[in-house]
Amino acid sequence: MHRVVQTWNPERYATHARFVSDLGQALLDLLAPRPGERVLDIGCGDGALTERLVGAGCRVVAIDSSAAQVRAARARGIDARVADARDLHFDREFDAVFSNAVLHWVADPDAALAGMRRALAPGGRLVAELGGHGCVAAVREALAAVLGRRGIDAESCNPWYFPTVAEYRARLAAHGFAVDSIRLFPRATRLPSDLTDWLQTFAQPFLAPVPETERPAVCEEVRRRLEPWLRGGDGVWVADYVRLRVAARSLGRAARDTEAPRRRTGPPGRAAAPGEEVQ
Ligand code: BEZ
Repeated sequence: MHRVVQTWNPERYATHARFVSDLGQALLDLLAPRPGERVLDIGCGDGALTERLVGAGCRVVAIDSSAAQVRAARARGIDARVADARDLHFDREFDAVFSNAVLHWVADPDAALAGMRRALAPGGRLVAELGGHGCVAAVREALAAVLGRRGIDAESCNPWYFPTVAEYRARLAAHGFAVDSIRLFPRATRLPSDLTDWLQTFAQPFLAPVPETERPAVCEEVRRRLEPWLRGGDGVWVADYVRLRVAARSLGRAARDTEAPRRRTGPPGRAAAPGEEVQ
């Protein structure tokens, strides 16, 4: 499997991906932040949306895996830190965890959910939106066809996790969240520039196995295949996004923490033999 790190360039992001934070207002409304609340923003990017949490009077800590994006967020005055969502070290410090358009990039959703739940005070809210089942299906199909002709298995480069409602609901429950709402919905997304710019901004892991000199041809082929489907009469590209939007509350412990201790038959501290019950 190819696992290529996606890189983020704040200038490129501002030009070709500003819609990501612009479209985050509905998620902020769902969070309904209150002045003085401690909020952890997972995957703050350049901080454009985080700034609105700060503007609402919240005490915000923001993390992102990209040092360049964290620098851009800090330039807005945000307490932003470089961190990996799979490896969070916060302990019941936050009233809410917020995350917009990031969790589909996290290869280990269980590690992210475990860390987010640990970060929350009991009863704390998780409000998150990620790509959901079927997200950018047309784009993925075109990439698979074009890369397949070059002998590259697109699935092995796919960095995205787009869960169904049932799958994510089960994960939330297993990690000690009570789900208040969870919704999968299509969101046709008008792109501010050409599909090629979107591919170069968001789909780097698919292009990485292609020799650099051939990447423009790959992008052009993908673009040609998708033009009849994703480009409107006005010339604007509209990507076939699907969103999964979640509001949940931490129950304080993960389901596996609340399992009744098993009975031990040997002396304290002794490991159980296979099939043996331990207290
Ligand atoms: C997003 O940022 O929401 C996104 C990125 C890549 C593919 C689909 C969605």
